[in-house]
Amino acid sequence: MKLSFSDLLGSISYALDCVEHDLLGVTTYHSKRVAYLSVLLGKEMGMSDMELVDLAACAVLHDNALTEFVQEEYQKGIDVHDNEELDTKGQHCSLGERNVKDIPFHTNVENVVLYHHENADGTGAFGKMAVDTPMMAQLIHMADHIDAYLDLSFVDQKKYEKLLRFVRENEDVLFSRPCVESFRKIASLQMMQDMEGAKIDVLLAEQIPFDEREYTDAQIKAFATVFARIIDYKSNFTMHHSLGIAAKAEQMGHFYGYDPQICIKLYFAGAMHDIGKLVVDRDVLEKPAKLTEEEFKHIQNHAFYTYDILRKVHGLEDITSWASLHHEKLNGKGYPFGKTASELGHMERLMACIDIYQALTEDRPYKEGMSHEASMNILHDMVENGFIDGSIVSDLHTVFGTVS
Ligand SMILES: [Fe+2]
Ligand SMILES: [Fe+2]
Ligand SMILES: [Fe+2]
Ligand SMILES: [Fe+2]
Repeated sequence: MKLSFSDLLGSISYALDCVEHDLLGVTTYHSKRVAYLSVLLGKEMGMSDMELVDLAACAVLHDNALTEFVQEEYQKGIDVHDNEELDTKGQHCSLGERNVKDIPFHTNVENVVLYHHENADGTGAFGKMAVDTPMMAQLIHMADHIDAYLDLSFVDQKKYEKLLRFVRENEDVLFSRPCVESFRKIASLQMMQDMEGAKIDVLLAEQIPFDEREYTDAQIKAFATVFARIIDYKSNFTMHHSLGIAAKAEQMGHFYGYDPQICIKLYFAGAMHDIGKLVVDRDVLEKPAKLTEEEFKHIQNHAFYTYDILRKVHGLEDITSWASLHHEKLNGKGYPFGKTASELGHMERLMACIDIYQALTEDRPYKEGMSHEASMNILHDMVENGFIDGSIVSDLHTVFGTVS
């Protein structure tokens, strides 16, 4: 399958930003600013085009395991939500490094995500000195740290001076000498102000070479699995939801005798179908009480965000509709677009059925998953009422009836 990794990450970074905003309070476009600043610094140091693509990718993914870490702590009874010192031992760095291991980067990015919280003087999460930290990790650390500390979404003369002072004072403390040197060369007031607001999207895209290429099925699965994990850990209500759907969608593809490439696309669509949930506040996703109408609408918006995120990525045209129309119903009562039967193809109908089946059968903290039979009864009711496709529901029974 052909895909531009930087294109995909560029689009997904908006959703990742929402996670950091939700959990850490950083301002919108944080990961894009981190990527942009890291890339400018790397360019100044003479990094190659492909190194810059990977640097931007790692910058966008630096906190990919934040949702996972927060959920793991939560399972132990620790609520680290909104806590600035949330992970002094770098657990999200280790989890994040493990997650990106299977991603086919262009260059060697070993330990870049792992060491994105290392200080030059060895006082960081793993006590690594600058000499033991890959340069990409040092650059991401610098960009991440100054954006989180000073909020570069708005820079005036006063903040600019504070920034220069901060970087200077932290030479050999937080930041290594080559990083500070490179920063001095690029950091004009104008450059900092360029990063304000949505302009950062265009600026970042201009800096990163277009890298569309053919990926193997295993590599595509690796991408998809990373994102499914991020999405699933956003809420402890749905910790295996996307991965479960991805696996079932692929399995159904084989059942229908689709070409293996189509089956992988189904896996990808399943993994990504709820990526829009990253945009939804965790407090609303996990609210124990009944949702207000407004909160319910906020959650429903996730399907539109999935559409909006995927539609911008070259090579994902068909997957975009398979993934984002999973809450549409044949009778027009679904969302986000209220499409009707004639506008919903087999793949869209399939994803809708699998989504419901998975949601019913998976365990949640407040309830055990339903049996296959009980879930089938609900699906059949929905078929009767014109919501979903009856022949696909029968196929789900054929495929999953014997294994559950
Ligand atoms: Fe981090
Ligand atoms: Fe960050
Ligand atoms: Fe959904
Ligand atoms: Fe879902």
